[in-house]
Amino acid sequence: MDERAVDIFFFTGTGNTLLASRAVAEGLRRAGKTVRLERLEKGFGPCDEEAALGIAVPVACFSTYPFLWEILDSMPEGNGRGAFFLCTMGGMAGGLGRAMKAVLSRKGYRLLGRKDFIMPGNYGRKSTSEEKDRPIIARMREEADAFARALLDGSASWRADSPLSPLFHRLSKSRWPWRLMARLYPLAVERKKCIRCGKCARLCPVRNITMTEYPAFGDRCVSCQRCMAFCPPNAIHVPGKDYRQYRSVEYSDLLSEGR
Ligand SMILES: Cc1cc2nc3c(=O)[nH]c(=O)nc-3n(C[C@H](O)[C@H](O)[C@H](O)COP(=O)(O)O)c2cc1C
Repeated sequence: MDERAVDIFFFTGTGNTLLASRAVAEGLRRAGKTVRLERLEKGFGPCDEEAALGIAVPVACFSTYPFLWEILDSMPEGNGRGAFFLCTMGGMAGGLGRAMKAVLSRKGYRLLGRKDFIMPGNYGRKSTSEEKDRPIIARMREEADAFARALLDGSASWRADSPLSPLFHRLSKSRWPWRLMARLYPLAVERKKCIRCGKCARLCPVRNITMTEYPAFGDRCVSCQRCMAFCPPNAIHVPGKDYRQYRSVEYSDLLSEGR
């Protein structure tokens, strides 16, 4: 990597992608790079045109969230700058890597490499098993370190996806997987627990939650789990299901990076 500075634009629902972005950033900083982490949901804003670009997102429905693709379309032109991509997932990235490669190439970036990190599942968890999560996160840290070294010495690569990946991606661009997710995972507020702090509404990346007396959900939910993950009294739940709150960073951490 020739660039001396690196800007990593990340989105995280429950903290996993923030942890992976930070782990890669640490590896790059140790080699003397200046690394900034920025929240992708805020858009790209004014960018350092000399810096390499990193994009980091969670896998969702074998791609990533539709609102992130809209933001990614407004990515500044690369003009030959280096760019890398990382995602976090439960185990199957589907069409994400290929679609991201297409966006970065179209925008004129030089592809430096891609890494998919397996992280604890953040969806429909029936237990809060920190003991099970710890080794998964430790492995991600080792792999992030290796990925940073590979980016630095130019040996990082862009893994090819399965031939079915365009199909997965096309599917994720339609509305129905997200509608299905929202139907399978209908979030609701337990009024007895809710302290009406409004954090859920402030954190929702698609502004689907409005605060009246209690939080009210609209029909734009993409099931990113943020509201549920960071609700202080754990008042957001899926009625009839014993799904547990999961987050891998604290609320203060979630908002600590970027502009
Ligand atoms: C709505 C939704 C859809 C998901 N779809 C996939 C998927 O298709 N493949 C996969 O491997 N993991 C999937 N996951 C798991 C997440 O990608 C994984 O837990 C990720 O690390 C979450 O990152 P975050 O905490 O930064 O949001 C999904 C999670 C959610 C909430």
